Amino acid sequence: MRNRFWRIARRPEGTDFARALELEEASLGPLAMGEIRIRNSHLSMDAGTRMWLTDREDGYQPPLPLGIPMSGLVLGEVLESRADGFAPGDLVRAFGQWADISTVDAVMSGAIVLDPTVADRRAWFGPLGMNGWTALWGVEQTGAARPGERVLVSAAAGATGILAVQIAKLLGCEAWGIAGGAAKCAYLTDELGIAGTVDYKAADVGGQLDAAGGFDIYFDNVGGALLDQVLTRMNHYGRIAVCGLLADYTGGGRTSPREFDQVLMRRLRIEGFFSPDFMHEGPALTRRLREWTEAGELVMPYDVTQGLDNTLTAYAKLFTGGNIGKVIVELDT
Ligand SMILES: NC(=O)c1ccc[n+]([C@@H]2O[C@H](COP(=O)([O-])OP(=O)(O)OC[C@H]3O[C@@H](n4cnc5c(N)ncnc54)[C@H](OP(=O)(O)O)[C@@H]3O)[C@@H](O)[C@H]2O)c1
Repeated sequence: MRNRFWRIARRPEGTDFARALELEEASLGPLAMGEIRIRNSHLSMDAGTRMWLTDREDGYQPPLPLGIPMSGLVLGEVLESRADGFAPGDLVRAFGQWADISTVDAVMSGAIVLDPTVADRRAWFGPLGMNGWTALWGVEQTGAARPGERVLVSAAAGATGILAVQIAKLLGCEAWGIAGGAAKCAYLTDELGIAGTVDYKAADVGGQLDAAGGFDIYFDNVGGALLDQVLTRMNHYGRIAVCGLLADYTGGGRTSPREFDQVLMRRLRIEGFFSPDFMHEGPALTRRLREWTEAGELVMPYDVTQGLDNTLTAYAKLFTGGNIGKVIVELDT
């Protein structure tokens, strides 16, 4: 059987993914013991994977070597299995390949069989997947948000942020979001009903933050200069939950807060968190996220691109701000 896949040919510069990744085709070999083969129906586009494409060795994951297929979360049906607990036809999610068909070690790829009765399977990438777990963990555990506190989320109209603002609200907090542009800000206040927004692409971000008032929790997806702006507006004993550093991903910079002394002045706690560290909590997190989702209290807009050939266009949206909600590539199956 032939399979098309995106191969990492070079390290990308900025958002020039077309020079770095090449669509290729090869024959599939026989399955090894413990492996499953998945007919990918959907690919999840995740901003954090941009770090794996660099050659830096000091990240939370070693760089992906050149020459191999690009990896990421995939959703689809099992075609063939040589792993216990997986049978042809099962709907699964796994760390697979940006390809028509993923071949993975069931254990190493974190493959799990999913409940096929969930009405919209894309939810397994959004609220019921890594973005949901990360948003809930970051607000409740790392941010230690308590009812009545004021929570600010950056990249608030993206997949992780959009869930974080809604979860903060569900937990009884006053939720605010930072997003780029009037349309995204309007979506957050008008559709999701959060307390307010800061448009970081508009003028006078500092003035907008001053008008918003102090925050107890900052769920930060961005780092960079925005972090400096927020550090000087945190309430005393506030918490900064560092989820991601989007400001650094495509430019190769390193967030180095100039306003770091505010950690002492305002007695702040800053803590990074990373979803694989709490994978074991996944089923419990999913149960809560599913209740909210099925009650219509937690929603996710999807930004869907059709076809494996168009994957790079979808991926670039994460870094240019072209999306509201979860970016997904839907494949012809
Ligand atoms: N710690 C963990 O375990 C974990 C797990 C999942 C995700 N994450 C992190 O969560 C963050 C969001 O990832 P995602 O996959 O859900 O992507 P996403 O939020 O769906 O898309 C990224 C969004 O970030 C905004 N953005 C991009 N560059 C920016 C910049 N320089 N400054 C400000 N905003 C920028 C863009 O919206 P605008 O139009 O508003 O700019 C874009 O839509 C990333 O930092 C990722 O690493 C962490």
